[in-house]
This record gives sequence, structure tokens and C-alpha cells, in this order.
Amino acid sequence: MCGIIGYTGVNDAKKVIISGLHALEYRGYDSSGIAFNENNKIKIIKSKGKVSLLEDKLKNNNSISNVGIGHTRWATHGEPNEINAHPHKVGHTTVVHNGIIENYIDLKNKLKENYQFISETDTEVACALIDYCYSQKKDKLKALQEAKKEIIGSYALAIIFDDEPNVIYTIRKDSPLILAKKNNDCFLASDIAAILSFTNKYYILNPDEIAKIGNGKLIFYNDNLKEITKDINEYTGTINDVMKNGYKHFMLKEIFDEPTVYNNIINKYVPNYDVKDLEKNFGNFSKYEKITIIGCGSAYHAGMAAKSLFEEYANIEVNVEMASEYRYKKVIPNSKELIILISQSGETADTLEALRKAKSNQMDTLGIINVLSSSIARESDKVIYCLAGCEIAVATTKAYLAQLLILSLLSILMAYQRKEIDNNQANNYLKDLKLLLKNTQLILDNKDTYEKIAKKVYQDKEMFFIGRNIDYALCMEASLKMKEISYIHSEAYPAGELKHGTISLIEDNTLVTGIITKQNIAAKTISNLKETKARGSKILLVTTNSLYQDYQNDKFYQEIIIVDDINQFFVPLTIITTMQFLSYYVALYKGEDIDQPRNLAKSVTVE
Ligand code: AGP
Repeated sequence: MCGIIGYTGVNDAKKVIISGLHALEYRGYDSSGIAFNENNKIKIIKSKGKVSLLEDKLKNNNSISNVGIGHTRWATHGEPNEINAHPHKVGHTTVVHNGIIENYIDLKNKLKENYQFISETDTEVACALIDYCYSQKKDKLKALQEAKKEIIGSYALAIIFDDEPNVIYTIRKDSPLILAKKNNDCFLASDIAAILSFTNKYYILNPDEIAKIGNGKLIFYNDNLKEITKDINEYTGTINDVMKNGYKHFMLKEIFDEPTVYNNIINKYVPNYDVKDLEKNFGNFSKYEKITIIGCGSAYHAGMAAKSLFEEYANIEVNVEMASEYRYKKVIPNSKELIILISQSGETADTLEALRKAKSNQMDTLGIINVLSSSIARESDKVIYCLAGCEIAVATTKAYLAQLLILSLLSILMAYQRKEIDNNQANNYLKDLKLLLKNTQLILDNKDTYEKIAKKVYQDKEMFFIGRNIDYALCMEASLKMKEISYIHSEAYPAGELKHGTISLIEDNTLVTGIITKQNIAAKTISNLKETKARGSKILLVTTNSLYQDYQNDKFYQEIIIVDDINQFFVPLTIITTMQFLSYYVALYKGEDIDQPRNLAKSVTVE
């Protein structure tokens, strides 16, 4: 949602905070702001829009400051403007916040005798509450402890009190927050990307703890306000993960990262291309008779694609749920059901709450997560990390494919453990991982093909992606990518369902993309494509080389994308890489902000 950062140390706090906010901007870019100690007074500068506009404003301020907090916003309460931008100051207290204070109206009513509110935000109310508690308790730790009792919702808050301008306090619940110390420099941030240019070692603040940084010290307190020590974590990637490395956009860089991500997964989980490796690294799942996969957005789509593989090869019943729906539906607990939660960020609020619901029903939970030590990873009974490294572009690419590859490997393992396939068959499938790397590299080398097609369709106002079974699930992801970054109204639709109504939207020149990877349904999907052609559509066919051979004399399509053949577990990944390129180039020709699409944020930490 939002990104927060705090710094105390020997460097220019403004510089440290601005570079941190640039790294956090993928979390929200509606407005940004900074508060820093200027001659022992807290100075606040805010700006609507991108961090670069705040940076321009700071150019006129030449004061030296070693203490500051910063914020980049994804608006939840109140429109994106300077008044609603963070930091907020009430009384003698200044805060930045990531999350949502659900009971802010009640708190506001209680506090309005003592305070006037100028913004529409929930955060300003939390700031007033902390200021009020401090005025009552005269002790900052006790005041924060009291405020934590009063606040309902999710938060990571960084707080500066006027009477201690060289120190920053912080508390959190549900929203991510890490802290770090390097020599006399101390940091707090929503994620490691903000401080990676200084250190890759960090601490995670737990909900029952309070921390403070300042005067070269980083101190943690437990819920009895006793000083405690904590375990340090190490981020295994490098600063390159959060750099574009010469690519025009993070999205393009992250598409080109895909072979490296596949190699990370192969080397870690199946180095010998042997199902025994998977059994050792993933574990034994033979006790389960049912799987429910839960996620949001692209993570949900990865689950939809994997459903076909689990059902077809492991012969196990699979349910796929959107987390926001699963949270409020009736669940019938089943001890033989495995709940798989998929999330790139590991912080998506709906998926985190779906996990907690499953656990409250005593169901086994497995997290397939990209961000190390994120909330969903830490709270799941078991976690398989996706090893995709930092993903900065809001539209997920390499992380979605890492999720899908892990799920494909899991479906091979479960097919083997459920004796649906034997060791040789399983290893034959796994052998194709080498081909996956080769085929993916061919697609990267062939990017101009997708650019040429994008150049012909980027002015379209609407698009349809149609397919059957797993191909329909791939259409869902291809369509979301197109919508997210090009703002073209695109819809994914089960090919056989179109004629029951939606085909009325097809008119002259409407682009219909058909994805076909399976022999047994190819002819059916082709008929559905031709039904739209009869209504004037133009067709982009996306298929495999062998299926193309079958239909090459039947040129019913205007454009075609062909991927090399590979087994059913891995062909979905190669198809999606081509669709990621298509949406990337359509958005590029439209001149859109590809890495930071409007109205979106990388990690949705609110309901
Ligand atoms: C995908 O490109 C989007 N960024 C979005 O749909 C995303 O997949 C969804 O918000 C889930 O995020 P997560 O994987 O971090 O939980």
C-alpha cells in the first residue's frame, strides 16, 4: 500500500529518505512527504504525485539534518492531495503510516474535544491519539502501548515527538516493517528495497514490540516495555535487484530475469531433475484428498492454471478461491484438505486473513511466497519460497511464473506420491526443465515478434482473450496484464461460454486472442474463434508448434504467436512470457507509466 522509511545517523537524512522513497514508490505513488529535524524543530514538506516532485521541492532547502521520516502514499482515506499526504503532525507528534485505522471515526469523535483535524485521513487521527496518550502518560513507550490498545486495523507507524527530535519510535500490526543498523546509521522501512544500498541485514518488528532509533542506537522493547535482543535476517539478493540495469522499465527487466528465476528454483528444489529431490525439499503430501488454493489477482490466476495440472495428473480435487471471497464464506473444515496460499508480497491483507481463517479451522496451510520472512510466509505452517528476487514493477511477471513453476513441480510430486505416475514418468517430465530454459530464452530473443503485433493493436479500445480449461486460466493472466498497464478494457472468457451472451460485444475489428495449448480442445476453441470472426473480429492465435502444424492450412487468424513444444506442465509458462511481452509493448506504444500504473500498488495491505 504505502511505503514508509525512517533514518537517524551521520548522513544527510533528506538524501537517505528520498532515495528510500524512490525504491518504495512501487507501493504507492499518489503523494509523498518528509519530516526532518531542522535545528531541533520538525520541518515537514509534502507533495502531490511522484517522489520526484517532492525532491524538486526539497532543492530549495539546504539545511543539514540527520534525522527524518518519509512516506509515499496509495490513497485510501481522502483524495491524493497535499493536505492528505503524510507526514501528519498533531500537537507535538509527527507520524507517517502504512495501513488502515478501521476505528478512526470512533477515535476522532473521542478526540475532537482536544484536537482539530485538517485532513480526511485515518492517519491524522492515529497521530492525535498518540499525542493525547503521551500528554496523559508523560512516557512515550507507555503512550505507544496505550495507543496500540485503542487502534483497530493495520499499521506500521513511524513517530517523532517534538521534545525528542533526534529519535524515531515505531510500532506495527499486520503492515510490514523492518529495522536495521549499520555503524551509527539506523533505519526503519516497509521493505528491504529502501535500505539495500546501505545494508542487507535487517530485523523484523513483531506486533507486540516497540522500537526506537536515534543517537546511533536501535532498541527493541517487548510488550512489558523491557529491552530485548532480536535475531537478524539477511536478504540474499543484491542492490541490482532494485535497479533497472539498463532496461527501460523494471517490467522488461523482470521478464528478462525469468530464466534466472527458473534456474534458482531448479538448483534449490530439483537439482538432479529427480522427483526424490522434490520429495526431500517440498515434503510428503500423500495424506491430502483435497486442495484449496487461495490468492488475489495474478496469484489467484496461478492457482487457476495449476488446478488443471493437479486434477489431471495427481487426480486430486482442487478448489481455487479469491481470498477476498474466501474470508467471508462458510468453510467446512476438513483435516485431509491442504490450503495453499499464493502471494508475491506475502503481505496481501485478504490472503493473510484467509490464511488465519484456515488456521483457525485447524487446516494445514502451505504458503507459496516470494518475499522472504513476509507475514504470510511466517504465519503459514509450511512455506515454499519462489526465489524470484525483488519484483519492483507493479504488474507481476517473473514472480507469477515462479509461482506457477512451483505449483507445476508440486503437481508432479503429488502425482508421484499418489501413485498416479511412477518415478520414471515423473523424471521424464522434470527433464523438460532444461527445455523450459531453452524455450524461454528463444522467446526473449524473439521479443520483436510480439512488439510488431503490439504496434498493430495498441490503439484498440477493447480486447478479448478466450480459451478452454487451463488455456482459459492463462487468458485470465494475459488479460489482467493487458488491463493493468495499457488501460485497454480487456476480458478473459471461457471460449465455449462466449456465445451465451458476451459475443454480442464483438464487432468489426475487435481483437480476440485465442490461447490453445491442448490437442483435445484445440478444435473447439478454433470454432469459437471462428464464431467471433463471423462477427468481424480480428484474431491473434497463440499456440504451440505442433498444434500450429495441425492447423497451418486453416488460416483463420490475422496474427499468430507460436511457442516451441514442451510438456503440459511447462508450456503454460512459455505462453505467458509471450503475453507479458504483448501487454508490455502495447503499453509502451500507448506511452503509459508501465512500472507504476495508475490506481495500483504492488502490495495490497488493506481489505
Ligand atoms: C498483478 O500484476 C497485480 N500486481 C496484482 O493482481 C497482484 O497479483 C495481487 O495484488 C496479489 O498480490 P500478491 O501476490 O503480492 O499477494
